[in-house]
Amino acid sequence: MSRIVVRDLTKVYGDLEVLSPLSIDITEGSFVSIIGPSGCGKTTLMRIVAGLEPATSGVVEVGGGAPAEARRQKRVAMVPQAPGLLPWRTVEANARLLLDVHRAANPTDAADPVDLLREVGLGDFLDAYPHELSGGMQQRVALVRALALHAPVVVMDEPVAAHDEITRAEMRLLLARLVEGRGATVLFITHSIPEAVALSDRVLVSSSRPGRIVADIDVDLPRPRPADVEDDPAFIALCGQVRHALHGGRS
Ligand SMILES: Nc1ncnc2c1ncn2[C@@H]1O[C@H](COP(=O)(O)OP(=O)(O)OP(=O)(O)O)[C@@H](O)[C@H]1O
Ligand SMILES: [Mg+2]
Repeated sequence: MSRIVVRDLTKVYGDLEVLSPLSIDITEGSFVSIIGPSGCGKTTLMRIVAGLEPATSGVVEVGGGAPAEARRQKRVAMVPQAPGLLPWRTVEANARLLLDVHRAANPTDAADPVDLLREVGLGDFLDAYPHELSGGMQQRVALVRALALHAPVVVMDEPVAAHDEITRAEMRLLLARLVEGRGATVLFITHSIPEAVALSDRVLVSSSRPGRIVADIDVDLPRPRPADVEDDPAFIALCGQVRHALHGGRS
């Protein structure tokens, strides 16, 4: 129902080869991170899986069908790299945006954005406008906007980027809480090795452009993971494994 299959995917923009034949298979209900150098094609891959960008060649299936179809049926939701809130809409109205678009296609179990906003600590800011929020708060609104759809597939493009360590740690716990137990299939992009390991069932490491998967690392740490999981020797060893793969085996 919500498996993501990518087979021999390529993407070129003019002369620029962004994704070389790339294959991934993400089983239903798993949380998989992709980590890779800037410009290796991560956002491009996300946009293709979310049905926002066509592939040049290869097969991409989201829940057994074409990504564009999954998108139209609100079976895939995307948290973009930049929050992209509409400045003239309040926090609550921004969080409702995807539900407002083509209401007829709303999933029957769509969540109430106000409940989710309260859950992410924005209950006092329902009527505020984006310019009145911090960057981290704006990212939480973008997260709620996507999660409110209750889509079985969620793709997140660095939803925790550009924050200090404390905010990152809080966001990580929040994400784990919001996503774990919902059964969603999540494809998650990050630059942070500890974040990838802390959240994921598997971490995929991409080469530099053109992007292809150079390592596929299983994270067999039990869930729910405690806040101090980073002190666990198994966690530290896994981070080392990802770092090694990311640096082409040179570290
Ligand atoms: N619409 C587009 N037209 C032309 N080139 C594009 C387009 N979108 C992305 N690219 C190019 O594709 C390459 C990969 O971009 P992409 O945004 O996917 O990288 P990324 O891995 O997400 O990088 P970052 O980690 O910095 O976010 C870049 O060289 C970029 O210039
Ligand atoms: Mg990107």
